[in-house]
Amino acid sequence: MDNRGESRVSESIERILLDKETIQNRIRELGSQITQDYAGKRLHLIAILKGASIFHADIVRSIALEISFDFIAVGSYGKLTQSSGEVRILKDLDESPEGKDVLLVEDIVDTGLTLHYLVRTLKERHPKSLKIASLLSKPARRKIDVPVDYIGFEIPDEFVVGYGLDYDQRYRNLPDIRILRLKT
Ligand code: IMP
Ligand code: MG
Repeated sequence: MDNRGESRVSESIERILLDKETIQNRIRELGSQITQDYAGKRLHLIAILKGASIFHADIVRSIALEISFDFIAVGSYGKLTQSSGEVRILKDLDESPEGKDVLLVEDIVDTGLTLHYLVRTLKERHPKSLKIASLLSKPARRKIDVPVDYIGFEIPDEFVVGYGLDYDQRYRNLPDIRILRLKT
């Protein structure tokens, strides 16, 4: 949805929160941890579009296991920076997760509502196991508890963009994670 012109919000990048190297080092650590935890198993990753696409592309290359992956897209924030609490599937999985060791890959856990909904929906499809990896977590904003098994970084209550995360579909291609300031 494009509502430019309706609201006068000015946005500016305030500062870099996590630089490229810090992100890549942490992803290598998570990849090794996942490789150890699933040793001898085949892992099926499900990345949540679009935000997790960049994190997913990097983490799969740091996991030394036989893997397969799939994508799911859920209702996004559009221009808003607050969750409506409503989640809907915009693009469903291509393959059934039934009987698979599934790792759900997310960009950021904010209120927890998106993951809570997805975990409930995916469990109904009987994966053998289901765990969550999220690059970022904002614990201060949690409304509902979701067990996140692998967290890249816990961050303060700031709106961030880059490395897959957007504001109004922009900034996803920034190589690092930056704090966005919105002024109304
Ligand atoms: P939750 O349902 O509130 O946990 O929201 C999760 C989704 O909100 C994430 O997958 C992101 O798409 C979006 N989101 C939450 N916080 C941020 C942020 O700081 N920057 C960009 N997107 C965010
Ligand atoms: Mg997302």
